[in-house]
Amino acid sequence: MTLLTACSKSSDLSPIATPGSVDFTLDLTTSANAALKNSGGYIINSNVVVARTSQGTYVAGSHICTHEARTKVVFLNNEFYCTEHGARFTTAGVGLNSYASAGLSVYKTELSGNSLRIYS
Ligand code: FES
Repeated sequence: MTLLTACSKSSDLSPIATPGSVDFTLDLTTSANAALKNSGGYIINSNVVVARTSQGTYVAGSHICTHEARTKVVFLNNEFYCTEHGARFTTAGVGLNSYASAGLSVYKTELSGNSLRIYS
């Protein structure tokens, strides 16, 4: 993909620091988390967007946008995307357009059987 080539100001693209307060585990066998069985599927839990990428890996990022702090970040086209004004972030939290220049907090994921831990 060539998602970063449109922006020339790399100094604006650094992710913001990840808060140290996220740590929860999802049971992937429950219906509430069924979306995570599908590539591109996501759920929102504790203001965190947890998603399954098209590669089958799990990623997690803040549901709260860094543009104007709206809780409207979702997962779309293998990116974190804010439905308010259209900020786009990579799965690593790097901003892909001007609305996203502050980056997005992302979290670690760890799959163990059907348990998916999200933590910072
Ligand atoms: S609040 Fe997310 S793009 Fe503006």
